Amino acid sequence: MPRIRVEPLGIEVEAPAEQTVMQAFEAHGYYWPVGCERNGECTNCAMDVISGIGRLTPMGRYERANLVRQRGPRSIEDPRLRLACQARIRGDVVVYKRGVEPF
Ligand code: FES
Repeated sequence: MPRIRVEPLGIEVEAPAEQTVMQAFEAHGYYWPVGCERNGECTNCAMDVISGIGRLTPMGRYERANLVRQRGPRSIEDPRLRLACQARIRGDVVVYKRGVEPF
């Protein structure tokens, strides 16, 4: 199973392929910052992908459009910025997100 680590918390979890990053951590009892119904609207779940960007599903039009709407057009110039509620796991990944903590 793929392994996903979140910094700066330094926690690593295993998750089945095709789960979102957020689902993977919530399934293991961690809170991930959200501001919508986990549907890509708010972008509060945005994370920086430190390694393994190619082991996440590619960014779709909906995710891209909401990043531009909420954070401006320059936000999508950074290929490491992804929404944790939209990016699905296909292999080992390390991400950075402040505010992730045990429930
Ligand atoms: S939780 Fe709102 S965009 Fe991901």
